Amino acid sequence: MPIIEVDNLRKEFKVYQHRKGFWGAIRNLASSQYSLIKAVDGISFGVDEGQMIGYVGPNGAGKSTTIKMLTGILVPTSGKINVAGLTPHKNRKENARRIGVVFGQRTQLWWDLPVIESFQLLRRIYRVSGENYSRNLDMFHDLLNIGDFINTPVRKLSLGQRMRCDLAAALLHDPPILYLDEPTIGLDVVAKQRIRTFLNNINQERKITIVLTTHDLADVEKLCRRMMIIDHGKIIYDGTVDEIKRRYGKNRRLVVDFARNYKHIHIPGSEIIRRNGHRIWLQFNRDHYSASQLISQIAEKYDIIDLTLEEPEIETIVAGIYEGKMEE
Ligand SMILES: Nc1ncnc2c1ncn2[C@@H]1O[C@H](COP(=O)(O)OP(=O)(O)OP(=O)(O)O)[C@@H](O)[C@H]1O
Ligand SMILES: [Mg+2]
Repeated sequence: MPIIEVDNLRKEFKVYQHRKGFWGAIRNLASSQYSLIKAVDGISFGVDEGQMIGYVGPNGAGKSTTIKMLTGILVPTSGKINVAGLTPHKNRKENARRIGVVFGQRTQLWWDLPVIESFQLLRRIYRVSGENYSRNLDMFHDLLNIGDFINTPVRKLSLGQRMRCDLAAALLHDPPILYLDEPTIGLDVVAKQRIRTFLNNINQERKITIVLTTHDLADVEKLCRRMMIIDHGKIIYDGTVDEIKRRYGKNRRLVVDFARNYKHIHIPGSEIIRRNGHRIWLQFNRDHYSASQLISQIAEKYDIIDLTLEEPEIETIVAGIYEGKMEE
C-alpha cells in the first residue's frame, strides 16, 4: 500500500518580467508581463510504506517544489496528493505530526539557541512524551554523536554537525515519513557517510518511509533501490537504481594523483580526459575493465599518492536518457 500518492501534480509560478530601460518602463506601466514557470509539470507516483526512494535531477528540475507540496508548505496548482490519508496543504497541522523534514540548504533550528533548547521547544510543539523524548535523545547520541555539541548555539556548528542536529530535530516526534531535501549538500566524504549510515539505520530499524532529494548519485546508490529522475518538472525515469547504473553508469572516472610529474602517461583501457599538474582524470568502461584492474596497472608503472573513483553526474545520466529515447 502506498503511503504517499501523487497524481498529475503541477505547480506553476507566475514570474513578473521586468523590462529594462526607458521604453521598457513605459511598457511595464502599460501592461504587466508575466511568464509562467512550470516547476512541476504533471507528475504521478506512489511511495510504499517503509521505502527509501531517491529523487534526483539537475538544478531547477523541480525537486524542492515537489517536496514543499508534499509537506504542505506550497499549494499545488492542480493535481492530487495523498499522504497517509491526508491532503497536506489542507491538513497542514495534522500532516506535520506525521512527517519530518530536513532542508539541507537551511536549518529548521533556532539559530541563536543551543541545540538542546531547540529540541525542548520542538518537544513542546509536538507534545512528545518524556519517555519518547529521552529514548530518542539517547538514540541520537548513539547514532549521530550529537552529545559533544548539544549545548552549542546552532550558528556555531559546522555544516556536518548542524545537519546531524537537523536530522535529530526532524525525528523527535517519531514521524513515520521523512522528507530530505539535499541532506548531504556541502558535506565532506566522512560527514556524508555518517548521515548515510544513520538513514539506513532508521529506515531499516524503524521502517521510516524516506523521500531523499539529492544531487549526489552516490547517496542514492548507497541508500535506495528505487529512484525517480525529474527534469524540467517531468519525471523522466522511475525504476531501480541498478537499471540506471547498468544503462548509464558504464563510464566511470578515476582521479589519480601522481607523486611526480610524468610527461607521458599511457594506461591501456582508459582515456585521459583531463590533466592538472600531478593529477589526471581517467575514463574507463566498467564492462571491460574493473577499477581494481586499472589501479593495479597504474600502480605497477607509476608512483602514485592517491586515487579516487568518481561517480557519474546526474547531468550525464539525464543526457543519456534523452539520447536513449531519441534512438528508440
Ligand atoms: N517561489 C518561486 N517563484 C518563482 N519560481 C520558482 C519559485 N520556486 C522555484 N521556482 C522555479 O521553479 C523551478 C524548480 O525549482 P526547484 O527549486 O523545485 O528546483 P530543484 O530541483 O530543487 O533545484 P536545485 O537542485 O537547484 O535545488 C526553477 O525554475 C525555479 O527557478
Ligand atoms: Mg532544490
